[in-house]
Amino acid sequence: MNTTESISGLELKILDVKNKQQLEDYFYLLERQKEEQASGFEISEDYYNYSVLYEHIILAYVNDVPVGYTSGSKENKTFYVSMTYVVPEYRKNGIGRKLKERQEELAKRLGAESIETTVSKDNEASLRLQESSGFKLFPDSLRVSYKAVKKL
Ligand SMILES: CC(C)(COP(=O)(O)OP(=O)(O)OC[C@H]1O[C@@H](n2cnc3c(N)ncnc32)[C@H](O)[C@@H]1OP(=O)(O)O)[C@@H](O)C(=O)NCCC(=O)NCCS
Repeated sequence: MNTTESISGLELKILDVKNKQQLEDYFYLLERQKEEQASGFEISEDYYNYSVLYEHIILAYVNDVPVGYTSGSKENKTFYVSMTYVVPEYRKNGIGRKLKERQEELAKRLGAESIETTVSKDNEASLRLQESSGFKLFPDSLRVSYKAVKKL
């Protein structure tokens, strides 16, 4: 599915990765994410291979420039979100939430009954994003992260 809408005055296009160019756009975003030292997010070769082979990847574009993605895979009746990322210069425009909405639609289409992700307790932006997308947060026993769950 390929949709375009206006959000915070931006022309936002959202699509499921289907071709080689879109896969390259996804790799570009992974590189951007890697450059962000502060996120502390390491991307291994295994992650590239795994995501290309097994994940459902959704991309966001503003004026045809890739600005964000969300990825995840379905196992039994649960859709597990691997990562949601928006480049720093386009954050706080509602793009993260739009990506999650699309991912939720996809998870439903695939027959998932719930959607799940893990968020570090220090990741304020992501915790807020999960909450505003209707996820319930459950702290792990060590309270270093939260499991975010939403019934579909
Ligand atoms: C988390 C992330 C994807 C959010 O993307 P985004 O496009 O800025 O999110 P949105 O604009 O849709 O905002 C969603 C909600 O989160 C809030 N939010 C966004 N950034 C925030 C921040 N830094 N601090 C507090 N709240 C924040 C927004 O205000 C909004 O809340 P509302 O619905 O109550 O108005 C983005 O910050 C990011 O890419 N972070 C780095 C990667 C990462 O940590 N990913 C999550 C891993 S679990």
